[in-house]
Amino acid sequence: MKAITAQPYEPDFSLSENMIQSIFRDAKPFGHHEDPHNLNLGFGFIYYAMARALRPKHILIIGSGYGFSVICFALAVRDNGSGQLTFIDPSYSLLRDGPLKTIGGRGTWDDPEKVKAHWRKFGVEGIVTHYQMTSEALFADYKKKKLPKIDLAFIDGSHTYEDVKKDFVNVVRVSRKNSYVFLHDTNIYFRELLHHAGVKSWLKVIAGAKEAFQIVDFPFASGVALIRVLDPKAWEQLA
Ligand SMILES: C[S@@+](CC[C@H](N)C(=O)[O-])C[C@H]1O[C@@H](n2cnc3c(N)ncnc32)[C@H](O)[C@@H]1O
Repeated sequence: MKAITAQPYEPDFSLSENMIQSIFRDAKPFGHHEDPHNLNLGFGFIYYAMARALRPKHILIIGSGYGFSVICFALAVRDNGSGQLTFIDPSYSLLRDGPLKTIGGRGTWDDPEKVKAHWRKFGVEGIVTHYQMTSEALFADYKKKKLPKIDLAFIDGSHTYEDVKKDFVNVVRVSRKNSYVFLHDTNIYFRELLHHAGVKSWLKVIAGAKEAFQIVDFPFASGVALIRVLDPKAWEQLA
């Protein structure tokens, strides 16, 4: 009888030149301070590096046009050799649903087979689980779906002040202590001025809760902020 041997773990580093080219081609980053001409993923390198350095068991991502954030985080999970990623996006489209629902949405996540094929291009189909629903609907069902607590989150769904606030509070509610949360689009000045977006305004509110959160903002391109959650119970004061 043939002996059954465990598969040896083979370390991998995903960010080859080819991989970065396909990220630019198929995951189409926008507003992440990226530059395709010199293969610079901009904030994408931060997303990948954070997930490598922190080794999160569970990453949750809310909203993505073509999956740039999802791919950067998922490749890190793949290279870590463990972890899972939950991606929530109802697949709104600017043309179909209008600018009050989404600016960057293109209906990319309509068809579950195409969505799986998209992840397969990057070798992360076993890591990412997509829920085609709003974040509000998913959080209402979080326990029932038996989703684990969050170690690292990325919020880039609806950008209205009320929705960003809801997403942030809900994420913190189901996060571990010392988890980290990214908020994308902290630097979209005109949309904030027109009250079409409220990410920066929300960031100012949480900056006041110094016992609960540590914040660093990167106000380049569309901007991204990184928040360390010191006290997950803080959501009770924010809600
Ligand atoms: C493309 S991303 C963000 C694009 C860009 N950063 C911007 O400024 O709008 C927006 C995505 O969020 C999704 N989205 C919109 N509302 C959402 C919600 N309530 N829950 C989860 N995702 C949502 C849309 O379907 C879309 O794919």
